[in-house]
Amino acid sequence: MTSLNDRIEVALGDITKMEVDAIVNAANPSLLGGKGVDGAIHRAAGPGLLEECRGLDGCPPGEARITRGYRLPAKYVIHTVGPIWRGGGSGEDELLAMAYRSTLLIAEENGIRTIAFPAISTGAYGFPVERASPIAVAEIRGFLEENGSIEKVVLVCFSERAKECYLDALSTCE
Ligand code: APR
Repeated sequence: MTSLNDRIEVALGDITKMEVDAIVNAANPSLLGGKGVDGAIHRAAGPGLLEECRGLDGCPPGEARITRGYRLPAKYVIHTVGPIWRGGGSGEDELLAMAYRSTLLIAEENGIRTIAFPAISTGAYGFPVERASPIAVAEIRGFLEENGSIEKVVLVCFSERAKECYLDALSTCE
């Protein structure tokens, strides 16, 4: 029986290069692109991605929407909108957990078996990565415990700091 942590990997790198069924985009409610990982994914996917996003009528924080991956190695992009950090008293933790949960539900519904997440909300949205990483790991572990269909979740970090936080969060769940 593989342990849950065997199905979760932490990697340092550029999520647009990941050869997985789906990569996750840390988007904004318009779904019309932005900077950070949103900008990188749109640049790598090409104009077809924005075209498809235009037809989606946005995405509220905590929810997720799926599109094709176009020129990306990944077949799909699942766009989710994390919370903007406002100090921790406005339900940010729950909204971040919801973004991970909504994304995993859509992945399962679409038969996705391998998926890569960036550190949602920890960039422009200001959510402290030390606080975000245990929330992300708990949500992902909880989902994998209930659902055998997803074989591998990769947490793609863009800094050593983020990688340390995710490895710490995973190690406390051994
Ligand atoms: N690969 C992996 N991770 C990346 C990449 C990349 N190519 N580029 C940035 N990141 C990391 C950042 O270092 C951060 O840890 O993704 C994490 C999320 O940061 P942002 O991309 O700024 O996303 P977020 O904090 O959720 O803010 C979303 O920013 O780009 C806009 O349109 C987006 O308005 C939305 C907001």
